[in-house]
Amino acid sequence: MSVRRLAPDPVQPASFAFTAANENWIVQQIAKYPEGRQASAVIPLLWKAQEQEGWVSRAVIETVAKRLGMAPMRVLEVATFYTMFNLQPVGEFFVQLCGTTPCALRGAEALKKVCEDVIGPQSTVTADGKLSWLEVECLGACCNAPMAQINVDYYEDLTPANFRQLLDDLRNGRPTKTGPQNGRTGSEPEGGPQTLTDKALYDGSMIGAGDWQKRIVEQRKAAAEAAAAKAAAEAEAKKAAEAEAKKAEATPAAVAAKPATETAAAARPQPSAPAQPSNAANDTPAAKGKVDKKDVAEAAKPAAADKPTAVAESKPELLTAARGGKGDDLELIWGVGPKLGKMLNEMGVWHYDQIAKWTPAELAWVDARLTGFKGRALRDDWIAQSKKLATGWRPESKLGDKPAE
Ligand code: FES
Repeated sequence: MSVRRLAPDPVQPASFAFTAANENWIVQQIAKYPEGRQASAVIPLLWKAQEQEGWVSRAVIETVAKRLGMAPMRVLEVATFYTMFNLQPVGEFFVQLCGTTPCALRGAEALKKVCEDVIGPQSTVTADGKLSWLEVECLGACCNAPMAQINVDYYEDLTPANFRQLLDDLRNGRPTKTGPQNGRTGSEPEGGPQTLTDKALYDGSMIGAGDWQKRIVEQRKAAAEAAAAKAAAEAEAKKAAEAEAKKAEATPAAVAAKPATETAAAARPQPSAPAQPSNAANDTPAAKGKVDKKDVAEAAKPAAADKPTAVAESKPELLTAARGGKGDDLELIWGVGPKLGKMLNEMGVWHYDQIAKWTPAELAWVDARLTGFKGRALRDDWIAQSKKLATGWRPESKLGDKPAE
């Protein structure tokens, strides 16, 4: 920690007074604080005195203390605590040279030597009163190290050569350039940008700059069209599935296999009219005007003559997956739609030649397991269709080739 003391007596001035302009300014500053709190203006007053004189002398401290009703010791405590107050006389150009690590690594040591050479030891003023210097801690411009603050300006990217020239220009009243001294304008990389240098990255035309509203409208329109197309496709698929299910229920095989109550009821003998004399043979509940569940179930049983001819079932050879990873398009078999195709695949049927080899018993086994489509395989003669398809023949329609009735 540096020890901050007042300058020796020989350099202390006998008195100090604010200029008329500064007097006006300090009156305004003191007025900012409530009665009894004027001491709060101590830093602004010390700062203004330093601006006027270049440094804070004992006379300054005593004058400020008197103006604010403070003990001189309290003002001295403030002046010695804050390093921004110069307690020694400074030159017309006061050089504060940063000596902290980043600047030291970038050559601040060499700059110190320049100061010693051109100005002399720290805290001394040149004979012409123009220059003085002091090594200070980081001034917050490390990205442009090494640097120095001269009065209120920063000079960055210094080298011994340009720093020496700078001091010479200042001393002789020549204009100087503040900021970086090596050509860069800020803290960008030396020699220009090193990354993101591809100009195409900033070519707005590549992303339709200036036309973004149109682009957004088009994107929204495309999204709406895609959603509408998807909804239409789903509705179409649902309609097709319902039509297939209806068709399956209407096939003769399905009707034959179904113990339809209506069919059975129609087939059973008509009950006697209620007016006829009652006897054991026609004394049915219906004849009595009563119908119970047992009678309906009985009536619903298909007559022996109406029962479909039972075909022995035999499980065909099934696959766990399509050969070569790709099955045949089973929907080319007339009557097989997406749902039936999926059911067949899940069952293990993927290829025409599988179906072509089925026996009637194997076809019956499969048919019995096509829930909701029973009778379809028999009605549409899948075996015959698959034999043709297995040869490489293809129907004109995607629906397949309708078998002859
Ligand atoms: S280290 Fe010198 S400005 Fe930060």
